[in-house]
Amino acid sequence: MQEFNNKVAVITGGGSGLGRELALCCAARGMKLVLGDVDEAGMQETLRLVEQAYPGTEAASMRLDVSKLEQVEELAALCKSRFGGAHLIFNNAGVSVNGPVWQNTVDDWDWVLGVNLYGVIWGVKVFTPMLIEQNEGHIINTASAAGWLNGPSSGVYNVSKTSVVALSETLALDLRDAQANVGVTVLCPAFFPTGIHLSDRNRPADKGETVEKSEISQKRAAALKYAVENGRIPASDIAEMTLKAVETDQFYVIPHRKIKHLIKLRAEAADREQGVFDSLNPEG
Ligand SMILES: NC(=O)c1ccc[n+]([C@@H]2O[C@H](COP(=O)([O-])OP(=O)(O)OC[C@H]3O[C@@H](n4cnc5c(N)ncnc54)[C@H](O)[C@@H]3O)[C@@H](O)[C@H]2O)c1
Repeated sequence: MQEFNNKVAVITGGGSGLGRELALCCAARGMKLVLGDVDEAGMQETLRLVEQAYPGTEAASMRLDVSKLEQVEELAALCKSRFGGAHLIFNNAGVSVNGPVWQNTVDDWDWVLGVNLYGVIWGVKVFTPMLIEQNEGHIINTASAAGWLNGPSSGVYNVSKTSVVALSETLALDLRDAQANVGVTVLCPAFFPTGIHLSDRNRPADKGETVEKSEISQKRAAALKYAVENGRIPASDIAEMTLKAVETDQFYVIPHRKIKHLIKLRAEAADREQGVFDSLNPEG
């Protein structure tokens, strides 16, 4: 899609981090915004920043838990009733949990797959027919470098993000089969500064049971915090790259060059059929 002015952008996870920057990028292009997030205060702050930078931007927001199909359907209904439809669908909300994968609890799996995977599945299921009917639109799924590279102590997150890459690739092929004028982009960044390492702030009380923090998983959590806080590409740049990808109908967005190199090394390790590839220690 190349013409954004007056079109509608739907952004899940619009109350923080990348979602907030996507909202600003879309507003800069004259788009109307529909934000969905469990964090209502965060969304209000995004809307305040949007109004400050781009006064008069039309926007709506709704408290949304992306893991619930009926709530994603309500989000689509809001787009229809308020703006007559939607054009860019950013399935972006995400959370993370760590721990050795056999120790992760049922709640860990339900919560993280609910948000990161089912959130994207429902976004695709609910909005794709709308875009096909309009014969215009683009779906942008936020995966991660973890969609390709599986580090230790983040198995639940890795499974969710690998699945988002798989879903996005299949969606693009199915839309091609259907000859639909609907684009797909899958975003696969490495660490960049946002609130993702503080995901527990959004953890629902009924999914509260988590893995006991061993010394090694505390070390891994500290490394994650460091990597996120010191990520070299700011969220604003990742958002801008994403919008450029929509403009040029680019499918994969892998903002960090090192990740492309590691993906090649992983393919080479698979070709050799030797020990498991460790992206944190690629030579090891
Ligand atoms: N920051 C990174 O290093 C990094 C790297 C790769 C991928 N990502 C992905 O980027 C996306 C955006 O995350 P971020 O880094 O901006 O983190 P963030 O924590 O700043 O933002 C995530 C947003 O999702 C919202 N959210 C959480 N649970 C939700 C739910 N059930 N329903 C709706 N909204 C919910 C949060 O309230 C928050 O506003 C995520 O999918 C994340 O996995 C982040």
